[in-house]
Amino acid sequence: MTKRKILVTSALPYANGAIHLGHMVEHIQTDVWVRFQKMRGHDCHYVCADDTHGSPIMLAAEKQGITPEALIARVKDEHLADFTGFHIGYDNYYSTNSPENKTYAETVYKALRADGKISSRTIEQLYDPEKQMFLPDRFVKGECPKCGAKDQYGDNCEVCGATYSPTELKNPYSAVSGATPVLRTSEHYFFKLGDCADFLKAWTAGSTLRADGVAQPHLQAESLNKMNEWIEGGLQDWDISRDAPYFGFEIPDAPGKYFYVWLDAPIGYMASFRNLCDRTGIDFDEYFKADSSAELYHFIGKDILYFHALFWPAMLKYAGYRAPTGVFAHGFLTVDGQKMSKSRGTFITAKSYLECGLNPEWMRYYIAAKLNARIEDIDLSLDDFVARVNSDLVGKFVNIASRAAGFIAKRFGGKLADGISDLELLAHLQAEAVNIAAAFEAREYAKALRDVMALADLVNAYVDANKPWELARQEGQDGRLQEVCSVLINAFRLLTIYLKPVLPKLAEGVEAFLNLEKLQWSDSETLLLGHVINPYQHLMQRIDPVLIEKLIEANKQSMEQQAPAAAQYEPLADTITIDDFAKVDLRIGKVLDCKFIEGSDKLLQFTVDLGFETRNIFSGIRKAYGEPEKLIGRNVVVVANLAPRKMRFGVSAGMIVCGSGIEDSQGLFLLDADEGVLPGMRVG
Ligand code: MSP
Ligand code: ZN
Repeated sequence: MTKRKILVTSALPYANGAIHLGHMVEHIQTDVWVRFQKMRGHDCHYVCADDTHGSPIMLAAEKQGITPEALIARVKDEHLADFTGFHIGYDNYYSTNSPENKTYAETVYKALRADGKISSRTIEQLYDPEKQMFLPDRFVKGECPKCGAKDQYGDNCEVCGATYSPTELKNPYSAVSGATPVLRTSEHYFFKLGDCADFLKAWTAGSTLRADGVAQPHLQAESLNKMNEWIEGGLQDWDISRDAPYFGFEIPDAPGKYFYVWLDAPIGYMASFRNLCDRTGIDFDEYFKADSSAELYHFIGKDILYFHALFWPAMLKYAGYRAPTGVFAHGFLTVDGQKMSKSRGTFITAKSYLECGLNPEWMRYYIAAKLNARIEDIDLSLDDFVARVNSDLVGKFVNIASRAAGFIAKRFGGKLADGISDLELLAHLQAEAVNIAAAFEAREYAKALRDVMALADLVNAYVDANKPWELARQEGQDGRLQEVCSVLINAFRLLTIYLKPVLPKLAEGVEAFLNLEKLQWSDSETLLLGHVINPYQHLMQRIDPVLIEKLIEANKQSMEQQAPAAAQYEPLADTITIDDFAKVDLRIGKVLDCKFIEGSDKLLQFTVDLGFETRNIFSGIRKAYGEPEKLIGRNVVVVANLAPRKMRFGVSAGMIVCGSGIEDSQGLFLLDADEGVLPGMRVG
């Protein structure tokens, strides 16, 4: 077998938020693949880091009254504890705020500059005169220039879907200080991505020949389509600089200018690896030099494809390094069919999962059983999670060991049979190693686990056909009993090998139980004969559904505990008189119908009974209320005398009132009314 040299990364989590199960999908997907490659005997290294720079992290630290350095140090510890808790086996978990990263960011930048790929020009940008800083798009809010909706972000309107630049907002205000921003000019530096179009066209559609002779396409088919759209649409120069105050690295020869966080973030992959190399003696250049024959893979979410499939390969290439061998994007995690929601308690943090006493390998198994090589969203259905883990993982797999181990221990002093006459089942299990390996290699984990569970079914059928408990009661059947139980223990060992990339901890338990060295993939070619095993100890519990309730509760609570900092509240509007208020005619409405609108991922279409008439109202709450049919029948509060507004999908006659506007809660919350209320009642 050709020994491959492989470097693997997961995207670097931002250092200002907790790790949640969405992140975990990515790190489990990566970790399974890395463990598989290591079991195959390849030189495989897995690095990650926290992504520590940028305005949001600078402002978050300020809000907490600490330095950014203190914030990122604390968060890094928390992140690493979460990932370690889920058995993610990085070879290095580092930080983008590191000397190595500064060096590589400068090296890459200078190389790009020397190659004529950097330009500079003066741009106009909104500036917060109170806070004395330029405002990133999402820190400017105001009224949508198209539909007039209030409190929209600087880049797009959640109500009508319009996209625009922050300078087009009406009555803009700074989300940092509340001040009215002013336009200011500043010199910015750009990476001339347009000059890389020919390379990118070829690279995105291309593949690389691995050391073992297999052609590895750089992108998944879906990614390639997206990139083609973007390349055809024309590649704009990429603004890679930000003005002080900014938490990041200062740009060489440009005092007061900093690298935009997304410039040094992917370079963080190199920095983390460099740090690993310096500690362990791995040859960095062998992995990153332009003509490297080592493989480089990035596991990422679909939302950051643009950075990894266009900017990053171009940066590497024109700075004189190798480009990635593959960028593997996955979809987003939903919980019970909906976007993770803090209010529903389904924004599940890794920490809460572990603290509630749930076994991380249950989640590793469930996520892996849903993952394939495509960019599909994957759903964590909590009922299905319990059912699948209990029936498949524990019911079909773990129980095999307990069904055989007792007899081996009690009747045969722990010794397996010296020879086995019916080898058919085991030979079949061994032959399947090739297919299962191919599925892991291709990131088709769902298929790999389906295949393994199909084998477990065969093993259980063997138990039922050979009935060891009956053999144990029959005279003169000792030899046969030992043989049957030895088949089962061997089958269990083979299945453990196949599951080990997903269940490393459980596999460790099995290794101890079976008295074995660390299992490698090639161990599936051998059998255990005449081998002495240890007494069986419980390997894995079933999930008690009560734990799931506890988990949801814990995540609801954590939201209540996190009272927003004062700066997150919108500034209070000007004082009004009671007459001003009376001008707003709020009414109770009953939702008669509510549905999605084709072509809009923001809006829901409501039919609302106001007692005296029925209204059609569009409301931009689709993101928060993903199951419109569930809203039918409930009461809402409607601004009933709002001038009708013509929208892309028809006329909206009024507005449905929602709680919103605290920055970090990211939710929209409909109001309800107590029982007895009638449609058409005035609110006030
Ligand atoms: N810091 C950047 C990545 C820089 S890589 C050089 C970032 N950080 S993130 O914390 O927002 O996201 C980290 C990874 O988690 C991304 O790949 C993102 O797609 C993934 N996910 C975040 N939420 C997710 C889900 N709900 N489901 C699946 N993956 C999710 O982006
Ligand atoms: Zn709008």
